[in-house]
Order: sequence, then structure tokens, then C-alpha cells
Amino acid sequence: MSDFPQITIVGAGNVGATAALFTLMHDLADVVLIDVAEGLPQGKALDLMHTRSIENFGPTVRGTNDYHDTAGSDLIVITAGVARKPGMTRDDLLAINSKIMRDVIADAVAASPDALVLCVTNPLDIMTYLAFKESGLPSNRVLGMGGVLDSARFTYAIAEATGAPLDAIDALAIGAHGDAMTPIAAHSTVDDQAITETLPVEQIDALVERTTFGGAEVVALLKTGSAFVAPAASVVAMVRALLSDKVTELPSCVYLQGQYGIDDVYMSVPARINKTGVVSVEEIELGKTDLARLQQSAATVATALDELGLRG
Ligand code: NAI
Ligand code: 2OP
Repeated sequence: MSDFPQITIVGAGNVGATAALFTLMHDLADVVLIDVAEGLPQGKALDLMHTRSIENFGPTVRGTNDYHDTAGSDLIVITAGVARKPGMTRDDLLAINSKIMRDVIADAVAASPDALVLCVTNPLDIMTYLAFKESGLPSNRVLGMGGVLDSARFTYAIAEATGAPLDAIDALAIGAHGDAMTPIAAHSTVDDQAITETLPVEQIDALVERTTFGGAEVVALLKTGSAFVAPAASVVAMVRALLSDKVTELPSCVYLQGQYGIDDVYMSVPARINKTGVVSVEEIELGKTDLARLQQSAATVATALDELGLRG
């Protein structure tokens, strides 16, 4: 019997398998890796277990195609889905991933009814809302990962531009995970000084642009898929927080019920989270322009949810 908590990672592809690796390397949890592809999760799990004696991590990983093997997990991380391919419309992607999310949620939550759910599949904010609706779980137990990654990309862009060491930088990007994301320069600091006070507006605009299209920049270079190492590290930062008694504040995709004037939408904002899920969403102060951009970001998510007939 293991002393570690157990997480299920659905989807043994690039993000799922790399998130499993980081989870193990940080000694956070035993992992059950599940995928529809036969042999894939078993093969990835075996490869990871071969790594165990080299890296000396404590927890274990199993691969499976059967949800019975995932029973009793404390947390379900959903990375199952397809990425957009040439010739596919956004609606095609939405239709395919919505079906995958519906199938996955039903089986994964039936096997682990007490688990928290962390969504990663894109389009993130819509898929997290769908997971919430389909699971029947209270909203505080269903979250998504978007803001941690977007903030990490903003941090990188600031570090590159200023030469400041990473530990001197505290950057925040919230809103929808996509072109409508909202990096908040006024809440992004180098040595505790907001970059709005130290950098010219044009440079900040360029950093915001670099952050917003950071994912697309990786796709254009890789040509075969999207980023997965920083996404997996971001997932595991949230896994750590969601397995802990301690409350951690992280930009998390959470259900908004009036905060920032936004209602009935899942989107990333600073949230206090722990092993019970979302503890609270306390509003940070935003300037007029940032608030308007955040609300516009929410409007893009709300429109997509309405088009899918998911709200109300
Ligand atoms: P991938 O293609 O490497 O892996 C996806 C895996 O999902 C595949 O192994 C596939 O067999 C599996 N899968 C498909 N249908 C399934 C089902 N019904 N049940 C179980 N497994 C199923 O893709 P990758 O790079 O790992 O990305 C996964 C998802 O995460 C994509 O939707 C991607 O856009 C998204 N993503 C989101 C990020 C975020 O910040 N929220 C960042 C990076 C990726
Ligand atoms: C990213 O931002 C594709 O959502 C993924 O890299």
C-alpha cells in the first residue's frame, strides 16, 4: 500500500506523459496513465518506471486502457484530445474534443467520485466549463490550467527583454487561454517594481504580444504538435497545490460568478486553491484598460459557450 496520493492522467500523449514524469520526479503522487490507444500508456509507464532507479523517485506509475484501474484517485488530470490540424476548423476541433471530454469525464469521475478535476485539453476554458457541466461536480472541484503557463511565458518574455534574473520577476497573465488572454503588466514586477513604471509602453506591448503568441511560436517551430514541457510543468505546479493542505494562490481557470463583472464562465484569474479545490477567488485591483480587456476575454469564451448551447 502506497503512502502517496494517486492521480489519474487521462491522455498519455506529450503533455500527459511529461506531466507524469514531473509528478514522479517531485515525489508528489502515484500516477495512473490512461489513454484510448492500446499499449501507449503501458509503454510510457514502463519507460517511466525504468527511470525510477536512476532518478530515485518514490511514487510509481501504471499504464492502462481501463478506468477500473484508476479507481480511488485524488485528482484527475485531463489531457486527452486532438490538436488542430491543417484543414480543420475551430468548430471541428471543438466538436471532436467536446465528445472526448464528455466520454472521459463520465468514466473518470465514475471511477473516482471524490477526485478533483484539472482540465488541460483545448480550447481550455470551454473544455473546463464542459467538464464542470458534465461531471455534475460542484464548481470548486473542477479547474483548468491556463494562467500558470501564460504567466510563465510572460515571465520568460520579461526576463529576455530586461536581463533580470527569474527570481526577481513576478508576472501575471490571466483571462482566456488563447489569443484573448490578458497579461497584466501593472501586476507584473521586476524587483517588486511594476514594469508599467520601468518599461516604455511599446516594449510592454511587445512583451504582451510575445506572451500571447508564445504557444503559436512553439507550434510554428515544432511543426508536428504544440508545446508540452512548459505546459506539463504548469500542470504539475497545480497538481502540487491541489494535493496539499496548504492554500496556494495560482492563476487558475475557475468558475466565475460575478467576480470582475463576469458570470457563468470558466477563465483564469488568481485563485486560492488546495486539496479541497478552489478555496476562494479574491479579486485583484485592475485598471480600467486591463478590466475591459479581461471582460472582453470573457466575452469570447461566453460566445463560444453560447454557440455550443452549454450555458443556461
Ligand atoms: P497529444 O496528441 O500528444 O496527446 C493526446 C492524447 O490524448 C493522445 O495520446 C490520444 O490518444 C489521447 N486521447 C484521445 N482521445 C482520448 C480519449 N477519449 N480517452 C483517453 N485518451 C484519449 O497532445 P498533447 O500535446 O499532449 O496535448 C493534449 C491536449 O492539451 C491538447 O488538447 C492540447 O491543445 C492541450 N494543451 C493545453 C495546454 C494548456 O495550457 N491548457 C497546453 C498544451 C496543450
Ligand atoms: C499552448 O499554449 C497549445 O495551449 C497550448 O502551448
